[in-house]
Amino acid sequence: MTAEYKVHGAVAVITLNNPPVNGLGLSTRRAVIEGLHQANTDSSVQAIVITGAGKAFSGGADIKEFGKEAALQEPNLHTVIAQVEQSGKPVVAAIHSVCMGGGLELALGCHYRIAAPGTTVALPEVKLGLLPGAGGTQRLPRAIGVEPALNMIVSGEAVKSELLAQIPGQKLFDKLASSPEALAAEALALAQTVGERHADGNEALPLVRDLKCKHPQGDAYFGFVRNMVKGMSKNYPAPLKCVDAVEAATRRKFQEGLDFERELFVNLMWTPESRALRHLFMAERAASKIADVPADTPVRAIQKVGVIGAGTMGGGISMNFLNAGIPVTILETKQEALDRGVATIRKNYEAQVKKGKLKEDKYAQRMALLSTTLAYDDLKDCDLIIEAVFEELGVKEAVFKQLDAVAKPGAILASNTSTLDVDKIAAFTRRPQDVVGMHFFSPANVMKLLEVVRGKATAHDVLATVMQIAKKIKKTAVVSGVCDGFIGNRMIEQYSRQAGFLIEEGATPQQVDKAVEKFGFAMGPFRMGDLAGNDIGWAIRKRRYVEKPHMKYSKTADLLCEMGRYGQKTGKGWYDYQVGKRDAIPSQEVLDMISTYRQSQGITPRKISDEEIVQRLVFALVNEGAQILEDGIASKAGDIDMVYLTGYGFPIYRGGPMHYASELGLINVVQAMQRFAQNPHDDASFWQPAPLLARLAAEGQRFS
Ligand code: NAI
Repeated sequence: MTAEYKVHGAVAVITLNNPPVNGLGLSTRRAVIEGLHQANTDSSVQAIVITGAGKAFSGGADIKEFGKEAALQEPNLHTVIAQVEQSGKPVVAAIHSVCMGGGLELALGCHYRIAAPGTTVALPEVKLGLLPGAGGTQRLPRAIGVEPALNMIVSGEAVKSELLAQIPGQKLFDKLASSPEALAAEALALAQTVGERHADGNEALPLVRDLKCKHPQGDAYFGFVRNMVKGMSKNYPAPLKCVDAVEAATRRKFQEGLDFERELFVNLMWTPESRALRHLFMAERAASKIADVPADTPVRAIQKVGVIGAGTMGGGISMNFLNAGIPVTILETKQEALDRGVATIRKNYEAQVKKGKLKEDKYAQRMALLSTTLAYDDLKDCDLIIEAVFEELGVKEAVFKQLDAVAKPGAILASNTSTLDVDKIAAFTRRPQDVVGMHFFSPANVMKLLEVVRGKATAHDVLATVMQIAKKIKKTAVVSGVCDGFIGNRMIEQYSRQAGFLIEEGATPQQVDKAVEKFGFAMGPFRMGDLAGNDIGWAIRKRRYVEKPHMKYSKTADLLCEMGRYGQKTGKGWYDYQVGKRDAIPSQEVLDMISTYRQSQGITPRKISDEEIVQRLVFALVNEGAQILEDGIASKAGDIDMVYLTGYGFPIYRGGPMHYASELGLINVVQAMQRFAQNPHDDASFWQPAPLLARLAAEGQRFS
């Protein structure tokens, strides 16, 4: 059973028990109905308490039922809440720890509510592109007032119970328990009191739905709120629908408002934005699970971290651990390099202090956790050592051999390499099972993504530990197999190749950037190249010309680098930059270079539509993503989406390249690719659909 029923004197207690957060899944809903029935037919019972076992009152919908038939099956949450409201005996919600979404809606249906201090209360549905669909938009404004309710519903943010209890005239909590520990006893006492009070049936049971709901400046207030929400919610329809629903609570009869809320909810369920956000929600959870590494795999304790290399990446990587309260020792070959690295860390923290994002004492605490060294011996008590030295196999070899000599048994040895073979690096040690790739993204203290590169020999507990530590340092970790570029950079290479073909054929860098930025990317490929440094791609291409001479690339990017236009760091790249500024200014010199190149190749430029630009770039990602899945480098399409959403600025409301392609229909993607393959200036082999994509498209399936 996912809810327990017990009688204490004249009070029946229904305890939701569906770990981890008492999600209101079908069996829990059935058990609540069953408990209500039992209590109402037991003449010795005068009142009922609904509470939650373990870590929550209830976190709301059961995510295991997301998008499944069971979510809609009767009794649905509406039915449960209606049964609670119609109970002949008073129902008291005893709320603690977490009371969110459907959990709060259930509590709002109860006749009385007592909450433990410190409870997190929220209606977070908007974060999934939805609105509360079981009366939350109609009952919460009645319980705490229109403005506080609207703030909670539109933002989805959590509020602590003690703050809500301070709202003047609020009817959400009849009582705040004196402490979390006292909740159970005080809830029983309250139930006993109200049970006796209502025993003769003379006094009606109080219902939130019967409370008045008005805003004194109705039209003006909602007009103002709509303007504000419209400006903030940009690509998402849900926040404005939340306003509509709350406004309905102030203007319509309760049942009509409830019906309206239902209609809006159902419509939002079908919006691409909500589908994308729900996909992201599920994909994020799924990414943290590794099929052959059970969730109860014992992890290694990480109490001290070593970082080798205090350059761009080493400094940022160190900050992640310092922020999480884990001591870090950075090793370099020269004192000057250490001093430079530590100065950069200080500068970053000081900027945060200046902006008011970090308190002085926290800054001092973090810096106190940092030590530096030139001697490997000082790393011998580290539990995790991350290498971030120059990207050369020989340098990595020297580092890993020394680590193998000094690191304690069981220490995890990680490489931040972005292109080198983690299996080769592991083979430099006598403990390949302890070696793993931890591919951070720049700036490493800011970017959410961490690709965890699993070598042939990487031990299960090493993977489990790295996934856990990633959570601790607030990264989204995605497991990748070993291949050139792993998931993200392997895909971006194809995207960049396609961007090159587009400008050869007639588009300008700014047209390409504008088109994909309009699609929702944080930055177009050319602005991104300028930010990261065009010389990085140049070095990779030079290697490719030797390794894969048949592979076609536009030469424009090489010509750009030959002109010394490496990007923002040289003040000029695909665009020009003014000193100290990051605004990309179109460059005549670059346009002339492209034009001369086209002439040399006999290409007559043509006008390319924004739609074609977006399709060619996004489908380039999708096709390589399909190949990555087929090769087993990523184990789930959702993992690829997480990489693109958290590391490459893919628009969140489109759910990542693989989800987006599935929504379009894979057959449509393949047909577009076949059209592109006809283009004499493109590379027909580029548009050969990956076998997995071709098969799924033919079968009418999705990536999932
Ligand atoms: P960087 O050149 O800024 O820093 C490298 C640092 O390593 C330098 O401070 C250097 O003095 C130090 N170093 C070199 N050899 C050493 C040795 N034997 N022992 C100790 N220290 C040594 O390089 P960056 O950008 O930080 O890259 C480091 C690694 O991270 C590379 O493998 C790179 O591929 C990878 N990476 C870089 C990203 C980026 O955007 N820069 C992104 C993701 C990974």
